[in-house]
Amino acid sequence: KGNLILVNKYYKLDENFNPNNLTDMSLQYAYENNQIDEEVYEHYVDMCNAAKKEKGFILITTSSYRDYETQYDLYEKYKSKNGTEWADSYSARAGHSEHQTGLALDIVSYNNNMDNFEDTEEYEWLKENCYKYGFILRYPEDKEDITGYNFEPWHYRYVGIDVATYIYENNITFDEYYAYFLDK
Ligand code: DAL
Ligand code: ZN
Repeated sequence: KGNLILVNKYYKLDENFNPNNLTDMSLQYAYENNQIDEEVYEHYVDMCNAAKKEKGFILITTSSYRDYETQYDLYEKYKSKNGTEWADSYSARAGHSEHQTGLALDIVSYNNNMDNFEDTEEYEWLKENCYKYGFILRYPEDKEDITGYNFEPWHYRYVGIDVATYIYENNITFDEYYAYFLDK
């Protein structure tokens, strides 16, 4: 399904699944050691530049592509610290993270960390404008029962401009879009 691949609690990637078009992200747009699909990167750079030009906002990526092992360690760390239930509402298990596809980015403002990102103007801008660049807010507030995850104001998923626009205008999740239009 290319850019429209579904990865969630029910759809899992193989341990050996690696995206083949990864590119290094510049330190202008991401913290160190971030890689993302090259098509996604072009659209992300356009979005960052628009945020800067329109509003003076500096967006920055904290996490992007993560391989199976990295996700495994991350989930286990959350689980040993806060228990299985907590871990499952914040972190995907290995193979179940969109980050393994190279199509997902955790984006925050240069001035704010992930804890208070939802209260920032940068978040408000991203929420209302990201579809123009092909991104969706993947785990919105009040959709926890559908996505299976807590609200994540920082997690954006690339699906292309047409699908992102449809999802934005109809206020649905990618899980629903997939069920209605792609799961055939
Ligand atoms: N935090 C998201 C759900 C992930 O781990 O992929
Ligand atoms: Zn994320």
